[in-house]
Amino acid sequence: MRFGPSPGDASRFVSAWSDVAGVGRDHLRGGYSRHAFDDPEMQLRQWFAEQAQRRGLEVENDRNGNVWAWWGAPAPGAVVTGSHLDSVPGGGAFDGPLGVVSALLAVDELRVRGITPARPLALACFLDEEGGRFGLPCLGSRLLTGAADADHVRRLHDADGMSLADAARRVGFDPSTMGPDPARLATIGAFVELHIEQGRLLRAVDPAAVVGVASEIVAHGRWRLTITGQGNHAGTTAPADRADPMIPAAAAVLAARRALSGFDGAVATVGRIIPVPGGTNVIASAVSLWLDVRHADATVTAAVVDAIVADVRAEAAAEGCTVMVQRESMSDRVTFDPGLGLEISGRLGVPVIPTAAGHDAGVFAAHVPTAMLFVRNPSGVSHAPDEHADAADCVTGVQALADVLETLVGDINPAARHVGAGDE
Ligand code: GLV
Ligand code: MN
Ligand code: MN
Repeated sequence: MRFGPSPGDASRFVSAWSDVAGVGRDHLRGGYSRHAFDDPEMQLRQWFAEQAQRRGLEVENDRNGNVWAWWGAPAPGAVVTGSHLDSVPGGGAFDGPLGVVSALLAVDELRVRGITPARPLALACFLDEEGGRFGLPCLGSRLLTGAADADHVRRLHDADGMSLADAARRVGFDPSTMGPDPARLATIGAFVELHIEQGRLLRAVDPAAVVGVASEIVAHGRWRLTITGQGNHAGTTAPADRADPMIPAAAAVLAARRALSGFDGAVATVGRIIPVPGGTNVIASAVSLWLDVRHADATVTAAVVDAIVADVRAEAAAEGCTVMVQRESMSDRVTFDPGLGLEISGRLGVPVIPTAAGHDAGVFAAHVPTAMLFVRNPSGVSHAPDEHADAADCVTGVQALADVLETLVGDINPAARHVGAGDE
């Protein structure tokens, strides 16, 4: 990296981070719950807009619930950086907001370096990256690029039965304008997302590395299984009279775990399960559960799902239950622009690693040269309250992002640069 982090960089990071750290804490489940269009997420959008405006950037909402802040007028060849403000339920502080905070601070860093971008630079926050509220991840980037059908998205419901269209209207967005935005996509010359690392790979590859560059995202998807049985009394129903959908649901949980050893490199998880009606002394009439399956190869991912569903169906048949399977999302394996990734890793002197986590960058990679930077996460824990990155590492991440952006946007007047202007 060109400049080492300085005390001024550290205090800028701590100050910006303290702005977001209190928003959306989940006192029931721990961590943070910030979901698309809910109060904490809207509060963070407002904060982002204010911070961008304070930096003289032009803020706009696009047609798909994403927020943009422009340094320079939008034009083809623009360099875009950003991430998301929503979280999983009870998630960590860093997944998403670290990329947004780092984008704002990278603008400050470029100014300290005396850069005047030769290409427009945009910061962006994308709608519902986690799919925590409406079930379909990377909603904003999928809508923008046309990877999700707007009619389907408008009809998605949250757990309380509110449609995405109504949720959008409630906070002043017009859902009727959602859909592919080829004009905006055509302005993007490159996209770079900085993110906390969500595993232990960076440390395994290079224990000293603070930052890494992504090579690829494995294929991954979500399936909803609805198992229907016969609601009944927990005490008075004889074993032979039971059609309890919790039994095949339990089989799904165990089959997902078995898949970890049965399919090399695959992961399968049941992280959400809802019995209906959900009473201690009630045999459920139905159970919904969601299966998350990932493997580098999409055909293996599909084979894992088939194996788990076969086990569930067998258990359901024995129990007198039925099973309905719906694929809610699927993302094929994504390889990030190898030229850009190698160039970045060479310049920063940092390792290249794959990831099994999904990102908006994975959606953009099909359309524009895209790269991701990962910041070290000492425990590797993510999607949980213990997710953590040290402030000093986050500052190094900002420096790395600024280095990458500096190269990508160029400088209209490099001779006039006040190199190493130092701290303010
Ligand atoms: C999002 O972070 C995911 O990998 O599901
Ligand atoms: Mn994320
Ligand atoms: Mn996430």
